[in-house]
Amino acid sequence: MTKIYIAADHGGYVLKAVLIAHLKGREIIDLGTESPESVDYPLYADKLADHLKTDLTALGILICGTGLGMSMAANRHPHIRAARCSTGLDADLARRHNNANVLCLGGRTLGDDLAKHIVDHFFQASFEGGRHQRRVNQFSDFAC
Ligand code: RB5
Repeated sequence: MTKIYIAADHGGYVLKAVLIAHLKGREIIDLGTESPESVDYPLYADKLADHLKTDLTALGILICGTGLGMSMAANRHPHIRAARCSTGLDADLARRHNNANVLCLGGRTLGDDLAKHIVDHFFQASFEGGRHQRRVNQFSDFAC
């Protein structure tokens, strides 16, 4: 079963706990934060990206207030394809077409039920390859 790393800042701390409970039975590694105290989201995006670098088959979930900062920070890493999703269809297509390996969620913008729905779609879908692989390969052509 695919290993899942999860991390959040204070804006995603509550939703992180909800999703860990929702994903019970999966291999899930919690990288923090451990309290609602204010922390800097890029540090958590970076920590999760480092874990995925040594475990390229794993997937990640990053949660901040909006999911935006986490996705921007995570996508600075060439091996990360982070998708900030707000619908189940976003999550489905992020996996099927973009081979996203990190799902970014907004702890202050999504309700618990919608967040669980998005997570379920993300983990149920798989990359389709083919023309989508060619397009994803092109990402590294533009790396600085
Ligand atoms: C923290 O207040 C907030 O800026 C952060 O959680 C996130 O929304 C950033 O994108």
